[in-house]
Amino acid sequence: MKVGFIQTDPVFGRVRENVEDAVRKIEALDAELVVLPELFSTGYQFRCRAEAFKLAEEARGGYTVSRLIETARKKKLFIVAGLAERVEGKVYNSSVLVGPRKGLAGVYRKAHLFWNEKKVFSAGDTAFDVYDIGKARVGMMICFDWIFPEAARTLALKGADIICQPSNLVLPYCPQAMITRSIENRVFSITANRVGSEERIKGRALKFIGQSQIVAPDGTVIYRAGGKKAEGKSFKISIKDARKKNINPLNNVLTDRRTDLFNL
Ligand code: ACM
Repeated sequence: MKVGFIQTDPVFGRVRENVEDAVRKIEALDAELVVLPELFSTGYQFRCRAEAFKLAEEARGGYTVSRLIETARKKKLFIVAGLAERVEGKVYNSSVLVGPRKGLAGVYRKAHLFWNEKKVFSAGDTAFDVYDIGKARVGMMICFDWIFPEAARTLALKGADIICQPSNLVLPYCPQAMITRSIENRVFSITANRVGSEERIKGRALKFIGQSQIVAPDGTVIYRAGGKKAEGKSFKISIKDARKKNINPLNNVLTDRRTDLFNL
């Protein structure tokens, strides 16, 4: 199966430009599954909840998701992408899964909000669900969810072969940490990040680190992007590598867990 990511450099608030730029990059990629960054259509640093609410869209029928569905149908691929999702009076930091037949197949709302996101978004209320897209089972988590290993573990326990992680990384740790998330769960992980910077709140400049990557279940970094430029990449992977949960004949990363001793 061919999987990839688009590393973007969005302009804050220019939803149509950002979406069309991503669509062009998806159209140029040879992939069956492609992951876009967190909040790829709006940009990241909202000044307040009201501003996020204004730029947010409904997942079903909104401009961003409709364009992604059109692209998925045209290219016959699946897309995971992060966006500000408006739901009645609330705004979530969400990601969607869209595909060529079903259109909108899934929505995940970020469970672990990072820093100022807590003042802007409502905390996610969706489960960590896994979706069968034919050649693979995929799950979604968003950026800072990486620091809570339970997110990736839950997806693995539910059968995910590939963890798709739309991101807007500012801390340096995640690319390395996702190698561990892949090893400890024997899953592929695809992290799609952005580059560039934003300082929409004075004195709170954010620099996004890029380094989007695809990691194999044995921890091999199949590809890691640079930190400065937008780019799209895809690689062929063998899904069966994510279905072998044994690391030797006697150790299985899922069934060896001593849940009887965890006492949470
Ligand atoms: C983050 O969760 N966007 C750092």
